Amino acid sequence: MKFTELGIKDYILKAIDKLGFEEATEIQGLAIPEVLKGIDVIGQAQTGTGKTFSYAIPIIEMVDTECKDVQALVLCPTRELTIQVQKEVEKLLEYTKKIKVATIYGGTSYEKQIRELKNRPQVVIGTPGRIIDHMNRKTLQLDHLKMLVLDEADEMLKMGFKDDLEIILKDTPDKRQTVLFSATMPPFIKNIAKNYQKNPVHLVVEKKTLTVEMISQEYYFVKRDDKKELLVRLLDFYEFKSSMIFCNTKKEVDELVTFLQKHEFSVDGLHGDLKQMVRDRVMNAFRSGSVKILVATDVAARGIDVSDVEVIFNYDIPQEDETYVHRIGRTGRAGRSGKSITFVHPRAKTRLKEIENYTKKEMTFKEIPSIEDINNAKVSKVYSKIVEEINSYNKIDQTQMINRLVKEGYDVNQIINALISLTVKEEKRQYKDIEIIPLRAERKEKGVKKVSKNNFTEGRKKFIKASLNIGKKESMRPQILLSFLAKTVDIRKENVGDIVIRKSGTELDITEGAYNRLRRLEGRKYQNTVIRVGKVQN
Ligand code: CDP
Ligand code: MG
Repeated sequence: MKFTELGIKDYILKAIDKLGFEEATEIQGLAIPEVLKGIDVIGQAQTGTGKTFSYAIPIIEMVDTECKDVQALVLCPTRELTIQVQKEVEKLLEYTKKIKVATIYGGTSYEKQIRELKNRPQVVIGTPGRIIDHMNRKTLQLDHLKMLVLDEADEMLKMGFKDDLEIILKDTPDKRQTVLFSATMPPFIKNIAKNYQKNPVHLVVEKKTLTVEMISQEYYFVKRDDKKELLVRLLDFYEFKSSMIFCNTKKEVDELVTFLQKHEFSVDGLHGDLKQMVRDRVMNAFRSGSVKILVATDVAARGIDVSDVEVIFNYDIPQEDETYVHRIGRTGRAGRSGKSITFVHPRAKTRLKEIENYTKKEMTFKEIPSIEDINNAKVSKVYSKIVEEINSYNKIDQTQMINRLVKEGYDVNQIINALISLTVKEEKRQYKDIEIIPLRAERKEKGVKKVSKNNFTEGRKKFIKASLNIGKKESMRPQILLSFLAKTVDIRKENVGDIVIRKSGTELDITEGAYNRLRRLEGRKYQNTVIRVGKVQN
C-alpha cells in the first residue's frame, strides 16, 4: 500500500516523500488505518519492519494542535530506542511546527526534562521508570491522554518494566486508546492486552524468510577455546568495514573487547551494565565509523538503529531462534546484501539445525582460513591498493623523492621492494593454531539440503592416501611432519592417519578436507626440496 492511499495529512505525506519512502511496509499498511480509527491495536511484526511509523503517523494525524495537553505517550524499553523513536517522529514533523515532542528517560538530569515538559508537548516519548517519576512529581500530567503506545513491549518486559507498565496503564485515563507493538507475544503481553485493552484488533505480519534472503549466512565449527583466535583470523582475512559481534553474556562482551583491543582492533562493547553516557559514546563512535567493531549483548543492541553493518558475528550461537533473526537483521538492510557468521561449537550442531529450520534457510559451512590464506589475502589487498594507486588521478607526484633515491644509487626494484615491505610489515601478526573440526555426515534434515560431501561415514574417518616428495633424506619424521603441516597449512593431527616415511618420499592418510589444504604446499620449499603433493590411487 502506498502512503498516499492512507488518507493522511499532506504535510506528513510531504515529509515521508522527502525521506524517499512511497510504499508503506506490511505492518504499516495494516496498522495505520486501524490505529487511525481510534481503536485498540496489537501490532506484531519482526524488528526492522517499520513499526515506529505504524503508530507515529497516526499520533501526528490525531494530535489536536490547539490543545497543549499531553495527548500521546509512547513507552520504550531503553533510552536509545526513545531517542530513535523521537528522531523518526521529528522526521515526520519536518513540515509543521505545531506539534511538540518531549523525551523522558532515566540516566540524565531531571531539569532539562522538566523544562521540556513545561514547554507543553503534545507527545511524550520515554522509558517507563522515569515517566512514573515525573507522574509522581506532577511534572507530567496525563489526565488528557488520548493514546498510549507500548513500543517493543516484549523488550520492556525483558528490561524488567512489568510493574511500571501496569502502574502507567492503571494511572492513565480509562477511555484512552491503547496501542501495543511487539516483535513477539509472550504470555505477559497477552495479559496486558486482556486486562488493559478494549477489544483490540491483533495484527500479525508473519515472519518471512525474505528478510534473511539477502544475507549470506555462514558458519564455522570451532572449539570454545579457539573462538577468539578464529575471530582474529576472520577479521584479518576479510577486513570488514563494520562488524557487530553478539555474545550471550555481559562478561563475555567485556572479555572479548579487552582481547580485541589488545590485538589492536578498533573495537568497543555495549551491554546493559554500562553507564548511559558510555553507551551513547560507544554508539556514536560505531555509527560514525570511528569504531569498526561493536561487541554487544542482545538486550543492549536490540532496537538500536544501525543499518549499515557489513557483517554480524554470532560469537555465541543464540538460545532463541528469533534472536538469531534479530541479530542478523542488522546486516543486509534496505536491499543491500549482508553477511552473517556463526560460530558453532561441535556440540551445538542441533542448535544450528534448529535455526536453519526456523529460517528455512541453510547456513554454509566454511573452512577456517589458514594462516597462509590470510597472508595471501593481505598480499592481494596490498596488490590491489598499489594498482589502484597507480591508476588514481589524484596521486601525489613523488618524482623528487624517486630521483633522490636513484641518485643515491638505489635501484628502482630495491625502492619498490622496500615500500611494499613497509606496507606489509605493519600487518604482521602471530596467529595461534586452531583445531580444525571437519564437517560431518549427518546434515540431511527435513527441509534442509545436504551441505557438502562429507569426509566421514558415521563418525569414522575416511582417509585418502596422499604423497609428498619429502622423506628421510630431509630427515623427516612423523612428529616433524605433523607440526610442519599444522604450522604451514593448518592441518591438525586429528585429520591425519598413518604416516609412512621412505627415503625420498612420504605417504600419509589424510581426510579429504585436509588434503585440499595439503595441496597448498605444492611448489613451496622444504629445506632445499620443492614440494610436490600427490594422491596415491589404491
Ligand atoms: O520498530 P521496527 O523494528 O519494526 O522498525 P523501525 O525502527 O520502525 O525501523 C524501520 C526503518 O525503516 C526506519 O529507519 C524507517 O525510517 C524505515 N522505513 C519505514 O519505517 N517505513 C517505510 N515504508 C520505509 C522505510
Ligand atoms: Mg521499533
